[in-house]
Amino acid sequence: MKILVTGKGGREHAILTALSQSPSQPQLFAYPGSDAIASLATRVDVPNLTELIAFMKREGIDLCVAGEEAWLVKDEGLSNMCAAAGIPCWGPRKESAQLEASKAFAKHFLKRHAIPTADFTVVDSKEQALAAITQYPIVLKFDGLAAGKGVAVCPNAEDAEIFLDEVFTQRLFGPGQLIVEHCLTGPEISVFASICDGSYHILMPARDYKRIRDNDQGPNTGGMGAVASMALAEPALMQQIEEHIVKPTVAGLQRDGLPYRGFLYFGLMLTPTGPQVIEYNCRFGDPEAEAVLPMVRGDFADYCFAGAQGKLDASLISFAEGWSVCVILASAGYPASSRSGDVISGLDSMDGARVFHCGTRKNAAGEFETNGGRVLAVVAQGTTRVEARDLAYANAEKISFDGRQRRTDIARMHFE
Ligand code: AMP
Ligand code: GLY
Repeated sequence: MKILVTGKGGREHAILTALSQSPSQPQLFAYPGSDAIASLATRVDVPNLTELIAFMKREGIDLCVAGEEAWLVKDEGLSNMCAAAGIPCWGPRKESAQLEASKAFAKHFLKRHAIPTADFTVVDSKEQALAAITQYPIVLKFDGLAAGKGVAVCPNAEDAEIFLDEVFTQRLFGPGQLIVEHCLTGPEISVFASICDGSYHILMPARDYKRIRDNDQGPNTGGMGAVASMALAEPALMQQIEEHIVKPTVAGLQRDGLPYRGFLYFGLMLTPTGPQVIEYNCRFGDPEAEAVLPMVRGDFADYCFAGAQGKLDASLISFAEGWSVCVILASAGYPASSRSGDVISGLDSMDGARVFHCGTRKNAAGEFETNGGRVLAVVAQGTTRVEARDLAYANAEKISFDGRQRRTDIARMHFE
């Protein structure tokens, strides 16, 4: 079986690793991939999706697995273009991927299908936004893909003013609407399900740590680490999430005529009145994938292939017991900026942990150097959360590069 994965980051490195360890031994390709991913998969160098589809046809690719979200809504949509070419794709159609690409679309979907979520108003201007804000704190969300930077939780009017200025005056994220949303409180959890038309399979839940500094201080990032375990959420909570959130979402997709085959990520907040949906993402989480996927047993490649063909089969995989912890090492300046070209040392000294490359490249001397904000994900497993955490951190400490940033409380905060 030949499988092509779209994307280039730590999540795709983790997906390709899980595929490469599948007993069915698929031959792997990555678009565009990275220098690190090149050790697992053949990189495909084409200028656009049309050329990618042509390559997949020519090469006889059996399955396309969507990693990054951007391709799902580009041009006619990766999944739609695969369908037209007769290539099974594990990733939703463009019309369904609006659940992630448009927050307004997602909020209307949630409301229409009576799925718990914060109350909201969609506005077109700063004046309308100010009129819709009735209390602080308030949450303001730009309605589009903004690389994790389009959301502001504003404790007061001054902060709201600054963000409204960025959205409507500076147009930092381009043209688009804004969602004014009630602020919820509680710990967050990431729940993943494989969705295949009307059926679903709930995977191992995880928690990611979005702020740059310990104790959830500083600006939001793409994610500074993650912890995953079947024990992360009590069975009663998972059942509540399944009944009130996953099932109505799957039924809603069916009712709205939105075809969906692929991973769906539910970003949830566990509020005092029960779990509520903060966001949908139409793909696996990053860095959650780096923590969850090493826990997969069975044949992940067959699992994705079957799902993409409309035959979701939960029995093809299972999840290991215990805990998995991922610590992200980020480059200087992140998240406001990032620095490339800092040489990385210590990658060969991992003992009981593995490293997924989020943003690295090889320099002329063949050494890995930084190439982006999030640089590496160091991941370890253990019987207990503390064991997994200690192992991940002990290994993360062996890797160094100038300006390295990391949090020290991954898998500790929200637990101890
Ligand atoms: P999003 O991009 O929608 O996931 O939002 C990014 C982060 O903003 C979330 O992970 C939450 O920490 C926070 N957030 C989003 N919506 C709300 C809300 N309604 N109440 C409180 N915090 C929120
Ligand atoms: N971990 C957050 C995300 O993947 O969007």
